[in-house]
Amino acid sequence: MDRLLVTGGAGFIGSAFVRYVVEHTDAHVTVLDKLTYAANREALDELPSDRVELVVGDIADAATVDPLVAAADAVVHYAAESHNDNSLADPSPFVQTNVVGTFTLLEAVRRHDTRYHHVSTDEVYGDLELDDPQRFTEATPYNPSSPYSSTKAGSDLLVRAWVRSFDVRATISNCSNNYGPWQHVEKFIPRQITNILNGVRPRVYGTGANVRDWIHCDDHSSAVWTILQEGRIGETYLVGADGERNNLQIVQSLLSILGYATDDYDLVTDRAGHDLRYAIDSTKLRTELGWAPRFDDLDKGLADTVDWYSAHTEWWRRHKAATEAKYAEKGH
Ligand code: NAD
Ligand code: DAU
Repeated sequence: MDRLLVTGGAGFIGSAFVRYVVEHTDAHVTVLDKLTYAANREALDELPSDRVELVVGDIADAATVDPLVAAADAVVHYAAESHNDNSLADPSPFVQTNVVGTFTLLEAVRRHDTRYHHVSTDEVYGDLELDDPQRFTEATPYNPSSPYSSTKAGSDLLVRAWVRSFDVRATISNCSNNYGPWQHVEKFIPRQITNILNGVRPRVYGTGANVRDWIHCDDHSSAVWTILQEGRIGETYLVGADGERNNLQIVQSLLSILGYATDDYDLVTDRAGHDLRYAIDSTKLRTELGWAPRFDDLDKGLADTVDWYSAHTEWWRRHKAATEAKYAEKGH
């Protein structure tokens, strides 16, 4: 696999994967990215130009996609509309990019018999009760709740059908909540870090009891690389690092890292249809492919992330005011 096509490679997790590939392999990467509001061109800035090329374009545009797929040994598909709150405000770009965009890529990899890895989310499985001893596994039935997660579920099902009907050489990964550098300030952890840095109290939806299973984006990258190299065609692998915390615990950790009282937050209007708990059992990936996360100390990961946002104020301030204005309209 000398030549990779990485869709969404200018986004939060896609750019982490591109940096991972440059650091750990000899592969050349072509990034196909539409550069939406969520993209960070700067996240690719320091990478060598003979290893990474950026093509600005839409994954739903077959004329753009086809020659890029033809030139690639493998496609790793990250591009998506990714934010649940945005999908509640306007689902339309989610259907277009996440469903039609994935369909367009699948048709191209089918035409050119190109290896394809599909990056997806644990949200396709719906949510769990707080006291449910079960976690999500590859056998959990699909039960998505939001426009975002239903379009991701739809895209996963397209991949499964293209494998079975057309022998497309694909794998799928469903990962839990990522944190780390370059995540947009609309997302929970960066929103609260940047609020605190701005002297604004963190804003927690509902009661703050909702649980997410946090993983560092670099561990997600190593998992995707492992699956791309070693994964069995047609298989799904769940990716998680045993990082379950409720939202109040995360906010309290961030407040204490930044030297504030741990009750210095506000509870605000809940998200419609808010999933209660996600939790991943990644036994299959660990036992079959030998993957393990490197970032196993979430408190240290959060402290490093706080340091990163403290050092990149110029970057996030560009997005902060507009993001908060959108949240204010919804009482979030
Ligand atoms: P992001 O919103 O930060 O980045 C998405 C990228 O896709 C952006 O660079 C954007 O410009 C690009 N893009 C959007 N529409 C496009 C289009 N039509 N054509 C080409 N490029 C387009 O997203 P993220 O958080 O980095 O998520 C990346 C992928 O990982 C998504 O598929 C998401 O579902 C999945 N995922 C995310 C998480 C998470 O915690 N953020 C967890 C599991 C899986
Ligand atoms: O589980 C994987 C998913 O994780 C990915 O597929 C999505 O792309 C990604 O955005 C993320 O979805 P969530 O909805 O879980 O992430 P978000 O950062 O939006 O919210 C995390 C939790 O924090 C969730 O319970 C909602 C809550 N929240 C969020 C914001 C923005 C708050 O309490 N306050 C906030 O201001």
